[in-house]
Amino acid sequence: MCGIIGYTGRGDALSRVTAGLCALEYRGYDSAGAAFFCGGDVNVIKTAGRIAELIKLTKEIDSSPNCAIGHTRWATHGAPTKTNAHPHKYGRVTLVHNGIIENHAELKAAVGAHPISETDSEIAAACIDAIFSECGDPLLSVRRACDGFSGSFAIGVMFDCFPGMIYAAKNKSPLIVGISKSGNYIASDVAAIISETDTYIELCDGDVCMISPDRCVIIDKRSEEVKRSAAVANVVADDIGLCGYDHFMKKEIAQEPEAIRKTLLRRMSDGAVSFCGDGLSDEYLSGIEKLTVVACGTAYHAGLWAKHYIEKTCRIPVDVVIASEYIYGDPLTRSGDTVIFISQSGETADTLSALELASSRGAMTIAVVNVKTSSIARRADVAVFTEAGPEIAVASTKAYTVQCAVMTALGARIAYAKGILDTHGLRSVSRALTGDLCDAINDVIAREAGISAAAKRYHKSDDVYFIGRGADVCACLEASLKLKEISYVHSEAYAAGELKHGTISLITDGTPVIALVGDEKTSDKMMNAIREVAARGADVFAVCRRDFPRDEAIKTRFELPACSDDVLAIAAQTVFQLFAYHTAKLRGCDVDKPRNLAKSVTVE
Ligand code: F6R
Repeated sequence: MCGIIGYTGRGDALSRVTAGLCALEYRGYDSAGAAFFCGGDVNVIKTAGRIAELIKLTKEIDSSPNCAIGHTRWATHGAPTKTNAHPHKYGRVTLVHNGIIENHAELKAAVGAHPISETDSEIAAACIDAIFSECGDPLLSVRRACDGFSGSFAIGVMFDCFPGMIYAAKNKSPLIVGISKSGNYIASDVAAIISETDTYIELCDGDVCMISPDRCVIIDKRSEEVKRSAAVANVVADDIGLCGYDHFMKKEIAQEPEAIRKTLLRRMSDGAVSFCGDGLSDEYLSGIEKLTVVACGTAYHAGLWAKHYIEKTCRIPVDVVIASEYIYGDPLTRSGDTVIFISQSGETADTLSALELASSRGAMTIAVVNVKTSSIARRADVAVFTEAGPEIAVASTKAYTVQCAVMTALGARIAYAKGILDTHGLRSVSRALTGDLCDAINDVIAREAGISAAAKRYHKSDDVYFIGRGADVCACLEASLKLKEISYVHSEAYAAGELKHGTISLITDGTPVIALVGDEKTSDKMMNAIREVAARGADVFAVCRRDFPRDEAIKTRFELPACSDDVLAIAAQTVFQLFAYHTAKLRGCDVDKPRNLAKSVTVE
């Protein structure tokens, strides 16, 4: 979602700010802007277009400011127009904001604000300006204004009369302070500053801070000065660069085997995966009698995979709930329950709110999360980190694969703790994940030409149907989401047996139906479904086991690698990720930054 960057120090602040915005592009945005000190005043430039447009505007500035803030906006309140783009200047205050100020209407009335934009953010600027008029102290004005805001926010602020100073605050939206030899930064995440410095301070919810070229002062909720320790980011520039790939999505798919191994090998003891080091002892796991998994989007699909595997292996019920439904659905979670939250970013607002709700009901909360410093990682009782590394493409690929692998490993360990799997069984699942699965994904990637040929055949279609059975249905749901989000092709995923209960009426001459046949037990049933749709004109693309019979109903075929049945549906997802990738490319879509989407959805 919105990206914030600010710099004060030696050298050109605007070029640093625009470079930081480019590094934050992956979060998704629809407009961009910057503000900088010039001649004792704060000037604002903005555009309803891409960052390249903003960079053009910066070239027209003849001074070289050394204090600036910048922003990429993902519209929530008001259309993606230049007026609604940030920064917003109100009185002496210029502000950039990520998140939502929920009580903006009351605040607007309380301060009698007359904003020119439709945004809640301009009201926040008006509030700070009103308080500043009374107290004259910028840090305290931000502090007091934030005390009156409800919702999630990270803000960066400049005051006309305080050149060289940037003020910032955060509540439930990410914000860090970057420390470098030439000056100091504020940023939404480390990616924005990593080309300049790897040293940063993680602000806590409720913190308000002031940065100048050589100082950083932080006050807490009680307005008392606090020290927050600096950390060194374990991200290197290569992690966030393309490294020769055309797109981040392609690079991230290629990283899947390495990400799975990195995540699981460090949890391996004597050939068997264990979560003891994460704080999940076998004693605890053996007592789990039911599980709830909560997540959004792709992470939710990883939860569906987990349900399939854990119910089959551990014979305990697993509920999988979309986070936004969990929050408002009065869930049955009670003290003593175990609720698992899956999230790549660890900042998804719906998932975070669901975690807080489960926690307030006394549940044990476990986060399966990729970003170690994220809010979800911090708030959960136990954080099981995936080691996928930074995921820059908006469409999640490697994070999903690793989430599925970790949930499978956790399921196997629960089964072991309960005495359902013996050591041999646990070792064999561990090997399947770190060996078979990784080899299978590499094999799929090596045969990418077959997948791009299929994309060439189907890319002009406007409706695509995915069908499968059992675990393959989970994979189909994720395949359909991937295709929709990056290629804008309408697609749906169905349990193959459901077609005849309604959807088959949509199948006409040439409709692409992509059938996933990974489950041996239901191969025959899948063949029936394929023949049924082919008889109605469907152009069937089978992504299937090697032993699946050839049939004239199948027009295109991609054989899945030989692989343990336990993990075949995870490897199949790589086929679909590449299929979506090539379809999007052929349709001329912006693969890494699909329209309207944000990488980290920090608003409910
Ligand atoms: C789709 C995608 C989204 C995310 C969802 C949850 O490719 O990336 O559906 O999976 O927004 O995000 P996280 O995992 O960061 O909580």
